[in-house]
Amino acid sequence: MALNPQPTASKSTSSTTSSAPTVSLPGAPQAAQFSKGSLDRSALASDPTTQFTSWFAEASSVPQHEACTLATAELPSGRVSARMVYMKSLDHGFVVYSNWGTSRKAADIASNPNASLVFWWRELERQVRVEGRIERVSTAESQKYFDTRIRGSRVGAWASQQSSVLSGREELEGQVKDVERKFEGVDEIPVPEFWGGARVVPERVEFWQGRESRLHDRFSYVRDGEGWRIERLSP
Ligand SMILES: Cc1cc2nc3c(=O)[nH]c(=O)nc-3n(C[C@H](O)[C@H](O)[C@H](O)COP(=O)(O)O)c2cc1C
Repeated sequence: MALNPQPTASKSTSSTTSSAPTVSLPGAPQAAQFSKGSLDRSALASDPTTQFTSWFAEASSVPQHEACTLATAELPSGRVSARMVYMKSLDHGFVVYSNWGTSRKAADIASNPNASLVFWWRELERQVRVEGRIERVSTAESQKYFDTRIRGSRVGAWASQQSSVLSGREELEGQVKDVERKFEGVDEIPVPEFWGGARVVPERVEFWQGRESRLHDRFSYVRDGEGWRIERLSP
C-alpha cells in the first residue's frame, strides 16, 4: 500500500509474486535521519520499569505519548493482529483497558497470552518495545479506572460489543439508549465483567534511540531470574 498515495501514482515495471501492481511513491521523502540523542549503557537504570518511567516522563510533551500498538497472536493459526491502545498505568506490567469479551484481542489472548506493545515517540526519536504475558487486572482496580471515565465512555463500554459486526450505526445507538435506560439515575456505574484492565508483564523490553546513518542505539532488558540482563543490540 502506498505510504503517500498520489493521484498520479505510476506502475512500476518490477516483477512481484502477486498480480497487484507495485505503486511507486512519487513525493515520498528520503528516509529521515535521526540525530536528536544517543543512549549509553551507563545511563540506563537497572530495571526496565524505572527506565521506561524516565523515558515516559521525558515523552510527556509528545501528543498522546501513552498511545501504543498492542500486538497479539491467535493459536493455533499463528495469525497476528495489532491495534492502537492507550497505556494507562505501569506497575509490574503495562496496563491497558479494553473489552475482553468480544474483541479480536480478547479472542487472541484466550488462546495465547503472549503480547507485545510498541511505543513511538517521534519528537524524541525513541521507540520502546515490550514483550510479555497478559494477565487480567482485578475488578476492583478496573473499577477504580472506570470511575475516572466520563459517563458517556462508561455507558459506551457497556453498550459496545467491541469488534462484533453491526447492521448500522443505529444498532449501536439503540444499544447505547438501552444502557442509558438501565443506568438512569445511577451515578456509580459498575465496571462490566467483560471490560477492564489487562497487564502486559514484561519479559523483554527494548529501548531504541535513533542515530545518524541508521546506526541506532538499542538496549534490551531480558528477564533473568529475579533481575534483568541488559544487552546492546546491533541496529
Ligand atoms: C489512539 C488510539 C487509542 C486507542 N485506545 C484504545 C484503548 O485504550 N482500548 C481499546 O479497547 N481500544 C482502543 N482503541 C481502538 C483499537 O485500536 C481497536 O479498534 C479496538 O480495541 C478493537 O480492536 P480488536 O478488535 O483488534 O481487539 C484506540 C485506537 C486509537 C487510534
